[in-house]
Amino acid sequence: MYQRIVILTGAGISAESGLKTFRAEDGLWEQHRIEDVATPEGYWRNPELVQRFYNERWQQLQQGVEANAAHRALARLQQQFHGEVLLVTQNIDNLHQAGGSQSVLHMHGELVKGRCPKSQQVFPLTQPFGADNLCTCCAIGQMLRPHVVWFGEMPFGLDRTYDALAKCDLFIAIGTSGTVYPAAGFVEQANQAGADTLEINLAPTERYSQFDFHRKGKAGTLVPEVVEQILAGQLLS
Ligand code: OAD
Repeated sequence: MYQRIVILTGAGISAESGLKTFRAEDGLWEQHRIEDVATPEGYWRNPELVQRFYNERWQQLQQGVEANAAHRALARLQQQFHGEVLLVTQNIDNLHQAGGSQSVLHMHGELVKGRCPKSQQVFPLTQPFGADNLCTCCAIGQMLRPHVVWFGEMPFGLDRTYDALAKCDLFIAIGTSGTVYPAAGFVEQANQAGADTLEINLAPTERYSQFDFHRKGKAGTLVPEVVEQILAGQLLS
C-alpha cells in the first residue's frame, strides 16, 4: 500500500473541460509567441498584449468552464486516501478547486489572481487586467500583473515539492508533455527516491522511458480508474 503520493498535472487534465493545451496543433503556443505573452520582458514591452492574453483566459473561466471527472477523482483521492497526497499543478486554471480539491500547489501561479509588482502582494482578480486595475497596497496604486510564472521566473513551492518527492512512494504525472523544467524533472526526483512512477497521457511523452508504468488515453476516463485502484490498494504493486 502506498503512503505518500505526489501528483503532477498539466494542461491535458483540463482539455476535456474545453481549455486548450499549449503544444497541440491548435494549442496556445501555436497561436501566440512565448516571448510575447509568457516572459517578463514581453510584459514590460507590451503589457496590453499580455493582459489581453490572460484576460481572455480569465473571462473563459468566468463563463463557466467546469471541472471534469479527472479533477473530481483527484479531489476524492485527497479526501479519502489514508496517507499523504501532494497535488502540484502547472495549470493556472482553477479547475482542481472547482472539482473539490482543497489543497493545490499552483507552481505556475493562478489565473484568478493578480499581483502588485512592487510589494508582491497577491489580490483576487475581480476585474480584467488593465490600467484601472490597481493594487491597494501602495500609496500610488500599481497596475496588477498576472499572478503567473513566466519563463525566466521561479516557480512557486519548489522546496515543498522537492521535499515531498524525496519522500514519496508513488509519483503520477497526468496530461503534461514533460517539456518544461523544473516540472519535467520531477519524475527523475521520484525515481531517485525509489518511488513507483506512472504517466497518464493521450500519447507517450518525451519522458516516457523514465516512467515505470503508463496508462494511455484520456485523463477523464483513466484518472477515476486509477484513483479507485489506489483507494482499493490495488494499483500497480
Ligand atoms: P502541453 O500542452 O505541453 O502538454 C499537454 C499534454 O497533455 C500533452 O502531452 C498531451 O498529449 C496531453 N493531453 C491532451 N489532452 C489530454 C487528455 N484528454 N487526457 C490526457 N492527456 C492529454 O501542456 P503542459 O505540459 O501542461 O508554462 O505544459 C507545461 C507548461 O508549458 C505550462 O504550464 C506552461 C507552458 O509553457 C508556463 O506558461 C510557464
